[in-house]
Amino acid sequence: MSTPIDLITPPSTSQAPPSDVAGAATRINPDITHRHPAQVPEDAPAHVKPHHKRTLPIFSLEGKTCVVTGGARGLGYVMSQAFIESGANVAIVDLNGAEAQKSAETLTEAYKSSHPSDIPPKVTAHTCDVSDPQSVASTFQKILEVHEEIDVLVTSAGFTENFKAEEYPHSRMQKLWGVNVDGTYICAVEVAKEWIKSKKQGGSIIMVGSMSGSAVNVPQPQAPYNASKAAVRQLAASFAIEWAPHGIRVNCISPGYMMTALTKKIIDEQPDLYNNWVSRIPAGRMGNPVDLMGAVVYLASDASTYTTGADLRIDGGYTVI
Ligand SMILES: NC(=O)c1ccc[n+]([C@@H]2O[C@H](COP(=O)([O-])OP(=O)(O)OC[C@H]3O[C@@H](n4cnc5c(N)ncnc54)[C@H](O)[C@@H]3O)[C@@H](O)[C@H]2O)c1
Repeated sequence: MSTPIDLITPPSTSQAPPSDVAGAATRINPDITHRHPAQVPEDAPAHVKPHHKRTLPIFSLEGKTCVVTGGARGLGYVMSQAFIESGANVAIVDLNGAEAQKSAETLTEAYKSSHPSDIPPKVTAHTCDVSDPQSVASTFQKILEVHEEIDVLVTSAGFTENFKAEEYPHSRMQKLWGVNVDGTYICAVEVAKEWIKSKKQGGSIIMVGSMSGSAVNVPQPQAPYNASKAAVRQLAASFAIEWAPHGIRVNCISPGYMMTALTKKIIDEQPDLYNNWVSRIPAGRMGNPVDLMGAVVYLASDASTYTTGADLRIDGGYTVI
C-alpha cells in the first residue's frame, strides 16, 4: 500500500499554508480547488507477455545490475520492470522503504508468473534520501555488497510543486532543488566514483528530466521545477563530457505528461485540467509510463554505446511546437 500523502491545493493569500510533505502541491491548476486523496493508488505492473520474437541481442540487459532511484512507484517503478523483463537485476532506492520493498516483491512475483521456468532476477529494496550525501553513500555501499557490481543508474526520484513564483516558500524551493538537482548530482557522482576507482568501462547513467526542462508547460506555475529539470538535462550533458574518458555514458530522458496512478487520480477528478493538457499534445494523449520502457532499456544497454550527452524527449511532440 502506498504511503498516505497529504497533497493540498497550492496556497493563495487567503488559504492555509500547505503541509510540509514533499510534492504536497503537485501538478495542480491554481484556479481549481482540489484536495488530493489521502491514499495514492498503487501502480500495477505492466502486462508483459513472454515472447520468442527475434530482436537484437545488444538490447538485452542479461547479467547487468540496474539501480533505480524513486523506483518504488510511478515512472521509476515501470522502468524497474523494463529492466527486470530485459534480464537485469534491480536495486530499488526510495525514500519510502516500505513501498520500495513491496514494489520489489510485486515485480518479482509478476516476473515469476509470466516466466515460470526462469530463474527470477534479484530485486532488492533500499531506503535512502537521495538529497543526503551520507544516506546515498551508505545505500550504494549496501547495494554493492548485495549485487557486487552496478552497471546502470537511473535517477527518477523527484517531484514537482505548483506555486506562483512570488508565493513560493524559499524552504520548499530548497527542498525541491535538494531532491531534483542535488539528489541527481549526488547519486551520479557516487556511482561514477566507484566506476572510476574500479576502472569499469561501459557504465550508463540515465537521468530523468522532464519536458519542463526545455519548455514552460502551462497552465500550472512551476518555475523552480522547470529550472530544476533544465539543470538535470545540463548535468547529464556536462557529466557526459567529463566522464567520457572513463567509459561512462550519461544521458537524459525528458518525459512529457505521463499517466501514473497519481496523475490518473488527479485528472479523473479534474477533467478540465486533463483536456487543457491534452489539447497541447500533438500525439493527442498523455504518455503511458510503458512508453518509457524502450527508451530506458536502449540507454542502459549495449545498443547505445555511442550515445552520450543526449536528451531523449518522450513527450508526444509537446516540445516540438
Ligand atoms: N509523471 C509525470 O508526468 C512526469 C513527467 C515528466 C517528468 N517526471 C519526472 O519523473 C520522475 C518520477 O516522477 P513520478 O511521476 O514517477 O513521481 P512519483 O511521485 O510517482 O514517484 C517518485 C518517487 O520518488 C521517491 N522520492 C521522492 N523524494 C525522494 C528522496 N528524497 N529520496 C529518494 N526517493 C524519493 C518517492 O517516494 C516516489 O516513490 C520525477 O523526477 C519527475 O519530475 C514525471
